[in-house]
Amino acid sequence: MADREDLRESPGLGFLAGLRRYVERAVVRFHTPGHRGGRWVHPGWARSVGRDALALDMSDVLEGPRGPGDWAGELRRAEERAARLFGAQASRFLVNGTSGGIHAAVFALAAGGEVLLSRASHISVYAAATLARATPRDAAPVYDAEWDIPGPPGAAALAESLPLRRPGLVFVTYPDYYGLAVDGRELVERARGLPVLADEAHGAHFRFCPGAPEPALEWGAAVSVQSTHKMLAALTQASMLHVGERGKELLGRIDRALSLFQTTSPSPLLLASLEAAAEQAAEEGRRSWARAVELAEWARARIERATPFRCLSPQDARERWNARLDPARLVVNVAVAGWTGLEAARILRHDWRVQVEMGNQRAVVLLFTPGNTAEDVERLVQALEDLGRRRSRSRAPAALPPPGAPPRRMLPWEAVSAPTAWVPLKESVGKIAAETVCTYPPGIPVIVPGEEVTPEVVEYLEHAAARGWEMRGPAHKDAARLGVVEESGVQ
Ligand SMILES: Cc1ncc(COP(=O)(O)O)c(C=O)c1O
Repeated sequence: MADREDLRESPGLGFLAGLRRYVERAVVRFHTPGHRGGRWVHPGWARSVGRDALALDMSDVLEGPRGPGDWAGELRRAEERAARLFGAQASRFLVNGTSGGIHAAVFALAAGGEVLLSRASHISVYAAATLARATPRDAAPVYDAEWDIPGPPGAAALAESLPLRRPGLVFVTYPDYYGLAVDGRELVERARGLPVLADEAHGAHFRFCPGAPEPALEWGAAVSVQSTHKMLAALTQASMLHVGERGKELLGRIDRALSLFQTTSPSPLLLASLEAAAEQAAEEGRRSWARAVELAEWARARIERATPFRCLSPQDARERWNARLDPARLVVNVAVAGWTGLEAARILRHDWRVQVEMGNQRAVVLLFTPGNTAEDVERLVQALEDLGRRRSRSRAPAALPPPGAPPRRMLPWEAVSAPTAWVPLKESVGKIAAETVCTYPPGIPVIVPGEEVTPEVVEYLEHAAARGWEMRGPAHKDAARLGVVEESGVQ
């Protein structure tokens, strides 16, 4: 195990220190997990993940400076430090990603009520509305075919659907997958006192990143859920929920909902990684993010100079969506040289060992963090130069826009609990969907339980299946058969 210097220098790592003391005291383990601190595991697993990491994997126990420690207390202290760092009234560590936080927050704030949101929201909020027996009230995204981006509707467009049946909340993706961040202050003003829940999955770095849009709690979101694992350095699946000034009255309900949804055996590795990510951010502050932004700027300038491709600019964001842009993210339009983003992503990976975050019908998305280096940018630019020289034999086809939200005939909850039949996709037209289908790209739901399947939905899903786009949600691969409410279940 590494020496203790790093912990001595970081008083903010109390939870991790407790886990390490437990290992160093060589406590004899007769408790979960069964692998006994890595003593009894498959050797291939131990070699891959390392014995040190396995030794730290324990459930509910750690060691204090003078004997058995206080797991819950250390965790609470780590969450309090995180709250101070992120400017929150309270923070909670999450071990089922931002998805888990969204499930709990929607359940806490809108069970049996309504959720106002853009249709281009992540599927986790539709799952949340299903669990909470709530009604999603979708606003149409502002779709841009040149970039294949279903961008955020402005606050004014969202507010057209107000008032909501209470309890209700306004849900905003801030920023979205493309780094677009709408004007949160206007949203709060127009929300008529409803709590605003920010899905800040992609914005955990905003507080530390020079030139980034304002963090959601600063503009008045009641609650923000952040994937600390996406842009900060926590382990995959580790996220945080932050409660702001406007949400502090809601904390009791949120805690109750978290206890309904979260596991009783949270992984100490995930929790310690959250504590460490927060401590790292506190120690490094804006310095390391300034470097990441510089790298992104440098990559942008070189891509625009040396390739035929174009990067989404702050001006594009303002003109098309009245939004700001995350400076640590590049959206590169490759369709200008005939490629779809999906093809470009495949070639970059296959020929250049460069993996992008995602590709859509027109562009690829790249994320920059302080973990990137100048060498990474060199490889990326070389790869894009090569792609630009090759040019595609065909023109990139016009992007097919995602279909609008179909008419809602039942609550999502009613549809998933009704008798379900899986019918061939074509035969599902006119029936009520009983499952969610989400395509990647663009990662937004095509159909949600309780909605009527329209011919446009079927056409879009057939198009997606023919092109091999990833689909999430359907029980049958590529939604070849779609789950619909049986006639007997339709009132
Ligand atoms: C906008 C958005 N919200 C929420 C999530 C869910 O986050 P997590 O993977 O941490 O559960 C994602 C995941 O990709 C996302 O893109």
